[in-house]
Amino acid sequence: MQDHPEDNLPKEGVSRRSFLQGAGVAAAAAGISRLPAEALAEERAAADLKELGPEAGKITLNVNGGSKSASAPPSTTLLDFLRNDLGVTGPKRVCDRGSCGACTVLLDGQVVDSCSMLAVDAVGKEITTVEGIGTPDNLSHLQKAFIEKDALQCGFCTPGMVVTCTAMLKENPNPTRDEIRQGLSGNLCRCGTYQNIIEAVEHASRTGGK
Ligand code: FES
Ligand code: FES
Repeated sequence: MQDHPEDNLPKEGVSRRSFLQGAGVAAAAAGISRLPAEALAEERAAADLKELGPEAGKITLNVNGGSKSASAPPSTTLLDFLRNDLGVTGPKRVCDRGSCGACTVLLDGQVVDSCSMLAVDAVGKEITTVEGIGTPDNLSHLQKAFIEKDALQCGFCTPGMVVTCTAMLKENPNPTRDEIRQGLSGNLCRCGTYQNIIEAVEHASRTGGK
């Protein structure tokens, strides 16, 4: 039986940080245009050298425009903190190792894999999940395009796709097909719905943006 990724992680928070930093390096080496976990960890280390943990403490994050707090060990990933402690379940846990993009969120507008960074490294940043992009009663232009172009099947990758494509259209409102493919390279859809996703991004771009 294949090991779960968690089975291979050391139990100590400091060692988990090393693992997360390694994930950031791997992502950068793969040419993924995502903010690497390593950069965030170093940024925080430079700003605040005080030791944290291993016991749980209060973590307050700015999520989708509101302040949310919960108690968690400092070794908690941003993804687990959002889903398990704050009840923000749009970001999905699929690979849990920075490979698939299902957990994608925006950090100060930049695309990150929330499974590959610590919640404490997101303190003071603006976090946007798919819930902050649109609601069932008030969908974004891109979300409507996803529905119109049938750009989803199982849906596990869809929240991350929507977050990534929203950032893509904000940066480049008129992407070419190749630029859309490149922009999606950090998000895997195992159902193979890429063609419809590309068409949804093109449709949103043609008809009014993100
Ligand atoms: S669950 Fe984070 S990249 Fe796959
Ligand atoms: S819709 Fe199934 S993995 Fe993307």
